Amino acid sequence: MSSEKTVSEAIKYRRSVRIYNAEKPIDTKTVKECIELAALAPNSSNMQLWEFYHITSKATIAKIAPYCFNQNAAKTAQELVIFVTRKDLWKKRVQSNLKMIDGLFPPVSKEKQSSREKVIRNYYGKIIPFAYADFFGILGYLKLLLVSVIGIFKPIYRQVKNSDMRIVAHKTCGLAAENFMVSMAAKGYDTCPMEGSDTLRVKRLLGLPFGAEINMIVSCGIRDEKGVYGDRFRIPFEEVYKEV
Ligand SMILES: Cc1cc2nc3c(=O)[nH]c(=O)nc-3n(C[C@H](O)[C@H](O)[C@H](O)COP(=O)(O)O)c2cc1C
Repeated sequence: MSSEKTVSEAIKYRRSVRIYNAEKPIDTKTVKECIELAALAPNSSNMQLWEFYHITSKATIAKIAPYCFNQNAAKTAQELVIFVTRKDLWKKRVQSNLKMIDGLFPPVSKEKQSSREKVIRNYYGKIIPFAYADFFGILGYLKLLLVSVIGIFKPIYRQVKNSDMRIVAHKTCGLAAENFMVSMAAKGYDTCPMEGSDTLRVKRLLGLPFGAEINMIVSCGIRDEKGVYGDRFRIPFEEVYKEV
């Protein structure tokens, strides 16, 4: 019998833990398995514009904690997982998707391609490059102008600016982070997501290029008895739930 929590149990068990028990180590392999589950998160156009940096060395955690402003959640962590967006890798991911598509459909002339094949090749060959291509943010505004004009006549995808595509990458990465935290909770492990960090310094430490962005740093461990700061607070559900 598995001792893993159900999804609902794990979601309820997960809290942002700020102090981890120093006497209770966690298994690096189990954390890695949870990162593998993070990579199964739904993601925009299956572009997978993310990377996961698993920090297992105490010396590196000690270097990163000050970059998280010495928050207890970072200082007392057993391990850290840094979720990074890689919008800059879009061309590489397009190629991976096109290669995957080549494997799905045996080579035939363009006329003999099924409509499904044509649609999917057009999506990764033309639509995705249209959405992601940019030139110092300028191209995005020209694309916005174009879609706004076409949008007068029919429904159209309007998130084509550089900043829109950054949001797309962060949205996707946030879903991976949530997959990770719920998977950890299912195993009885604790986490705390942190956006409070000096992302430039963290990027430098990881040797990341200009186009990479820190989405969040998730600290990991097992909760100390004083590790959860108070009962869970949520706005009354009726205030945020709207049936339409
Ligand atoms: C994107 C994001 C960034 C966060 N950054 C921090 C942070 O820097 N430090 C911290 O202590 N908690 C941080 N949190 C945790 C929230 O404060 C916490 O999720 C919220 O108070 C609800 O509590 P719960 O997670 O225990 O349900 C962050 C959460 C999210 C989703």
